[in-house]
Amino acid sequence: RWTATRDKNCKLPMPKGSMGFPFIGETCHWLLQGSGFHASRKQKYGNVFKTHLLGRPLIRVTGAENVRKVLMGEHTLVTVDWPQSTSTLLGPNSLANSIGDIHRKRRKVFAKVFSHEALESYLPKIQQVIQESLRVWSSNPEPINVYRESQRLSFTMAVRVLLGFRVSEEEMRHLFSTFQDFVDNLFSLPIDLPFSGYRKGIRARDTLQKSIEKAIRRSPLCSQGKDYSDALDVLMESAKENGTELTMQELKESTIELIFAAFATTASASTSLIMQLLRHPPVLERLREELRARGLLHNGCLCPEGELRLDTIVSLKYLDCVIKEVLRLFTPVSGAYRTAMQTFELDGVQIPKGWSVMYSIRDTHDTFAVFKDVDAFDPDRFSQERGEDKEG
Ligand code: HEM
Repeated sequence: RWTATRDKNCKLPMPKGSMGFPFIGETCHWLLQGSGFHASRKQKYGNVFKTHLLGRPLIRVTGAENVRKVLMGEHTLVTVDWPQSTSTLLGPNSLANSIGDIHRKRRKVFAKVFSHEALESYLPKIQQVIQESLRVWSSNPEPINVYRESQRLSFTMAVRVLLGFRVSEEEMRHLFSTFQDFVDNLFSLPIDLPFSGYRKGIRARDTLQKSIEKAIRRSPLCSQGKDYSDALDVLMESAKENGTELTMQELKESTIELIFAAFATTASASTSLIMQLLRHPPVLERLREELRARGLLHNGCLCPEGELRLDTIVSLKYLDCVIKEVLRLFTPVSGAYRTAMQTFELDGVQIPKGWSVMYSIRDTHDTFAVFKDVDAFDPDRFSQERGEDKEG
């Protein structure tokens, strides 16, 4: 029945691939095989293949040129469109669910949250939360689970620093475990039955929204009276500057979306960074030298709170290369979802109008021809002299 959805006006063939079983498609294979699922199908069918995941048909796209065409075709060839479970759980007011002009406007409002000025204002609090966590980690005589601790750190940072919520330790623990239930079920089969992942995700979202509403009502709704502006203040201010006021529902959905976007990505990236630094002592030593040269590291201790400036971080060129190399080898986000607004061509096959497209970041990094010795951890490939990334 899937060939019926090909665009008959287009002479190009459909992508190869298997649609699996009725309704569940290849979802079980995907869940069981993890990243091996895409790798095996890519090997069998090529860079553009069709499958059926999370209750809907999907075309999976790999390869720098193909991904570039999808990303450059935002609002003309494709539009953002996440699986049904993700859309429902994030809510209708989220960026992930906004298309066309609404997405452009919302993105403009969000942009101020990431402006140089805003990032500079979060910095002292970020530094404080990181230093407190590092102190606890290093005073613990037992081995620590870096990924779990990084998740906790990213979550605390998102809740306390970015969103400025004053919540007790106990509330924070409860929020963290509810948030994990929410994230674990964001990508699930959209079957709303008792004990299904989807139902669990909906329950977690409702609990989170209630706690967030309580926290928003408790905190002063603007930076006046605070010693810094948090991302929520900036978001509300930016909305006003763009001629709108955010409703409580919009605020709650934006808050959950921001925590979701920041939490798993940052925790994954910082865990991979720590792992690679432990595996590559010369890289760690060069990083320390760079920090010492900027006066940021004295006798093994990071500079005291409040001294760090955004310009200083931006000037740490070797750190930049190390982070890029970590993100290249251990991509925290495997890819993202779009829907074809019109039929278009990729790699000699048709992407029919209305089909979902998932562009793959991880598989593209793995196979991108411009990177020499792709499996090696080699931060200098991003240095000004070599600039391998500039060749792509
Ligand atoms: C290593 C860390 C991170 C990685 C690898 C990462 C990756 C990504 C990717 C690949 C997208 C595009 C998704 C798409 O095409 O639909 C994205 C979007 C987004 N990210 Fe991140 N992200 C990171 C950290 C963060 C943080 C810390 C925040 C917020 C504090 C954030 C907020 C967002 C938002 C709001 C969007 C949606 C933009 C839009 O739809 O216009 N991200 N991120």
